[in-house]
Amino acid sequence: MSGKKVAVLWLLAVLGSVSGGKVLVWPVDNSHWLNMEFILRELVVRGHEVTVLLPSCFLILNGTEPLPFQFEMVEVPISKSEMAAAMDEGFYFWFYEERRLPFWESLKKMIDILRKFENITRTICDGIVKNKVLLERLRASGFDVLLADPLMPSGELFAEKLGIPLMYTIRFSMGNTVERLCGGLPAPPSYVPASLSSLTDKMTYTQRIKNMLSYALQDLAYHYILWGHWNQYYSDILGRPTTLCETMGKAEIWLIRTYWDFEFPRPFLPNFEFVGGLHCQPAKPLPKEIEEFVQSSGEHGIVVFSLGSMVYNLTDERSNVIAKALSQLPQNVLWRYKGKKPEALGSNTRIYDWIPQNDLLGHPLTKAFITHGGTNGIYEAIYHGVPMVGIPMFADQHDNIAHMRAKGAAVELDFSTLTTQDLVDAVNTVINNSTYKESALKLSKIHHDQPIKPLDRAVFWIEFVMRHKGAKHLRPAAHHLTCSFSSTEISSYENLHKSVSE
Ligand SMILES: *[C@@H]1O[C@H](CO)[C@@H](O)[C@H](O)[C@H]1NC(C)=O
Ligand SMILES: *[C@@H]1O[C@H](CO)[C@@H](O)[C@H](O)[C@H]1NC(C)=O
Ligand SMILES: *[C@@H]1O[C@H](CO)[C@@H](O)[C@H](O)[C@H]1NC(C)=O
Ligand SMILES: *[C@@H]1O[C@H](CO)[C@@H](O)[C@H](O)[C@H]1NC(C)=O
Ligand SMILES: *[C@@H]1O[C@H](CO)[C@@H](O)[C@H](O)[C@H]1NC(C)=O
Repeated sequence: MSGKKVAVLWLLAVLGSVSGGKVLVWPVDNSHWLNMEFILRELVVRGHEVTVLLPSCFLILNGTEPLPFQFEMVEVPISKSEMAAAMDEGFYFWFYEERRLPFWESLKKMIDILRKFENITRTICDGIVKNKVLLERLRASGFDVLLADPLMPSGELFAEKLGIPLMYTIRFSMGNTVERLCGGLPAPPSYVPASLSSLTDKMTYTQRIKNMLSYALQDLAYHYILWGHWNQYYSDILGRPTTLCETMGKAEIWLIRTYWDFEFPRPFLPNFEFVGGLHCQPAKPLPKEIEEFVQSSGEHGIVVFSLGSMVYNLTDERSNVIAKALSQLPQNVLWRYKGKKPEALGSNTRIYDWIPQNDLLGHPLTKAFITHGGTNGIYEAIYHGVPMVGIPMFADQHDNIAHMRAKGAAVELDFSTLTTQDLVDAVNTVINNSTYKESALKLSKIHHDQPIKPLDRAVFWIEFVMRHKGAKHLRPAAHHLTCSFSSTEISSYENLHKSVSE
């Protein structure tokens, strides 16, 4: 597109939209912020004013970055190092302990970690709802919409307290519990796999039972571990009996960070919009040094390898197993890794603190992507049609790789048991066997062939909510049933729980 055309489009977008809407944002730390930032930048380009509520303990931001947003700093009695320690504990558990500890011990540890995060979130929330000066300033600012990531509760409480229409941007919740029980999203367990179950839409009879149990267990975890204290807290703050789930159910629109290239077909509601891949862009030229290394690979091309921004060191044993495998590939390998340089590192492998991942995946010499399976990276691979070797670690990563496997675009390995030969074989398979590349290209074509780009759709619905002060006409009446799905389901769990404990 020429500069002039961009300028005209930009002008049209500014003139044609809600001129100068005001957006308040409740973000979540780390990779969740990266995705949100793309939406916020686009809102600014279209003439809106964006204000981000930023707790002082956030790791990815400190409010001094040269970003085109206002930051409303929230001082909280948690230091960045306490926040980092809590996260490290969580990651250590998910990388090395979750699958190795005995079941009950692992469960107990997980509950401890979840409670610690709940405590942190509550402390942050206190820092906002109990700060009358801040609340008054926010109220006086006259925001048109509050955009929140529901992974961390509180955003919906601020929206309710300030009387601002609420919108969510969410990848998933455990067991899709928040979307199902609070948002009313139907999920027949016979063909809609529960998140974190690693299942696909085609299940055997046993897998369907596993799927039902997976939904039930995750709902129970929310009810007893995650939601327990919030219901009383929300009722106290709002001065009337309510629940966290009821308050979340008030979201006008849910922007889901996936699309039908990734999801299995399923029923959804008119106020759910699937905008996966909104951050993807055509590849830009690489920095000179990286381009030279890529070109030096010759006909074999390159392999891009990243375990994400959160894995910064592996044990010596794991990193050497991996480095040895990479050294046996005919390709050149670009590995994003911040840990100690492994002794077995081959001359075909270079380690970088940071790589221009999207630009590398879009490079014509790229043959495969070794990934932990975070949604952002998977979408970049889908966008550019690159086959994957998945080494999932935690959260939605096992699910994400299960989806890519089911669609024929990935091979999966287990991080804690993989051998050098496993990794060599997996990379050779996705490169030698053309079906993986063909499947990845097919997903890429589906992704690019949409009537309106995901980022434009996300922004459209945010502007829609600002123009119409909500989107109540899209809201299913299920939310008004006195005996709604959530309360019946929860009371049946309570009975189940009673009969189990008796
Ligand atoms: C904030 O972050 C930037 C970039 O991440 C860094 O350069 C700067 O030193 C930080 N400032 C403070 C006050 O921590
Ligand atoms: C969080 O934990 C600390 C100590 O571990 C406790 O003193 C504090 O009351 C807890 N905060 C909340 C909001 O539960
Ligand atoms: C990662 O590094 C930290 C500190 O640098 C260390 O305490 C931790 O043990 C390391 N983890 C692994 C798995 O090596
Ligand atoms: C797959 O590719 C590797 C490296 O290019 C090669 O060494 C190997 O023989 C190939 N295997 C098959 C079955 O083609
Ligand atoms: C290539 O992979 C597909 C899918 O896993 C498999 O069905 C097929 O047999 C493989 N082809 C070869 C030649 O190994």
